[in-house]
Amino acid sequence: AKARHFNWEVEYMYRSPDCLEHIVMGINGQFPGPTIRAKAGDTLVIELSNKLHTEGVVIHWHGIRQLGTPWADGTASISQCAINPGETFKYRFKVDRRGTYFYHGHYGMQRSAGLYGSLIVDVADGEKEPFHYDGELNLLLSDWWHKGVHEQEVGLSSNPFRWIGEPQSVLINGRGQYNCSMAAKFSNPPIGQCKFRGNEQCAPQILKVQPNKTYRLRIASTTALASLNLAIQGHKMVVVEADGNHVQPFAMNDLDIYSGESYSVLLTTDQNPSRNYWISIGVRAREPKTPQALTILNYSPTSASRIPMSQPPVTPPWNDYNHSKAFTKSIYALMGSPKPPKTSNRRIVLLNTQNRVNGFIKWSINNVSLVLPSTPYLGSLKFGLNNSFDQKSPPDNYDSSYDIMKPAVNQNSTQGSGIYTIGLNTTVDVILQNANTLAKDVSEIHPWHLHGHDFWVLGYGESKFKEGDEKTFNLKNPPLRNTAVIFPYGWTALRFVADNPGVWAFHCHIEPHLHMGMGVVFAQGVHRVGQIPREALACGLTGNKHN
Ligand code: C2O
Ligand code: CU
Repeated sequence: AKARHFNWEVEYMYRSPDCLEHIVMGINGQFPGPTIRAKAGDTLVIELSNKLHTEGVVIHWHGIRQLGTPWADGTASISQCAINPGETFKYRFKVDRRGTYFYHGHYGMQRSAGLYGSLIVDVADGEKEPFHYDGELNLLLSDWWHKGVHEQEVGLSSNPFRWIGEPQSVLINGRGQYNCSMAAKFSNPPIGQCKFRGNEQCAPQILKVQPNKTYRLRIASTTALASLNLAIQGHKMVVVEADGNHVQPFAMNDLDIYSGESYSVLLTTDQNPSRNYWISIGVRAREPKTPQALTILNYSPTSASRIPMSQPPVTPPWNDYNHSKAFTKSIYALMGSPKPPKTSNRRIVLLNTQNRVNGFIKWSINNVSLVLPSTPYLGSLKFGLNNSFDQKSPPDNYDSSYDIMKPAVNQNSTQGSGIYTIGLNTTVDVILQNANTLAKDVSEIHPWHLHGHDFWVLGYGESKFKEGDEKTFNLKNPPLRNTAVIFPYGWTALRFVADNPGVWAFHCHIEPHLHMGMGVVFAQGVHRVGQIPREALACGLTGNKHN
């Protein structure tokens, strides 16, 4: 194992992610940011300099559990202070486990602005993956709006509310096409054929493969909003990894991926090598207004410029939830994976509702819409600064008379910065309960992501979770993940062991939803947290503490 050092500068720059020029947030002149590649057991040291002129910044290492380094989790107001313009902060943490991960901004809506990149951890020297492959391809998926994030943010926090709308483009490794299509002759409504020389910033990254080999495709989604579905023409994919954990391999024609998730799939290039194949990515779970993203699987020695002669795979209908559920429920842990404790010490039921706070539209969890304090929780708890956030904890359950099938009778909610305090090393069940939004007959998908831990996904159910439903939990081979969705009007049950001292965000990974309060905070064993670098807490009430 070794230490890998990086010097990064975050800045705004001009780019044309989907062939139209806008400003994006990039790192060292790159968008997406540089890919980090490390081996399990390595220590990463990233010196992050903030070259933005008027905004703070932090970076979260999504999927890395930060065992023993909760201050390096990169969540503004939770694990650290935002890094001021002109300042540098040194993240130092261990990547203890192989897997497909990514990193992204975790302050305001900087992820939507383009602050993200891949983080890939290979097995340690001398270790092997439980599957074979000859080559590797990496796809980082995101969505892109032409409206800048500051305008998006103001719209979301205004009354009347202004929704950000659907993304203009879906990007593959930061590249997409807005005003042309690579498969123009199949598109309806008609659109012009893209003409690329290959050096355009939006020219798709062609995936080059040799015939009769097996490739590992690493796919991660850091979308702000979109749920995606990926298909490769004429090829099946065998899913082997989800969120850094091995799963029982299973073959699929197409794969659903929600924001915050990552997968590895194996692809065997056993098709006719004298042609190329489409890779298509479409939007699901919201009425799509975004054209599908396309790139090409290019069999050597066929020319990369040869456009496949047939229509790209079409995404299943956006509201075919049975298709999504079937995929999600076919994911099981690989035999020999850690099993969940048989029982839990505490059950927290979290009702997800859309509400109003003084007329402003928000998302609330058990009727509390999260607002983050100016002093990071980690510092407040470590130093006992009780007036830096609400001392009252949000409730462990919601009023059992609440009808999840309808818009709330009382739509008024409250804002708060209270947190859940969890006993160190206790086992916690979280039941995420979905409900109707403010609009009649609407319930949306939300991918929930937990920091600092993986959880076991014990099960999914329809309508309200009720006493006795725990009998249906899968305790035998539930997948370990860090992100799990709740389907419309349904519930999802998770179990985790609170064995990582620190303060951890648990939230919907749809960035505008988090911005509207859709999250909670779990604190555990903060007294056991060791030295926290002083620069992590140089703001708010911890600003003059010397720890
Ligand atoms: Cu990738 Cu708190 O998120
Ligand atoms: Cu959400």
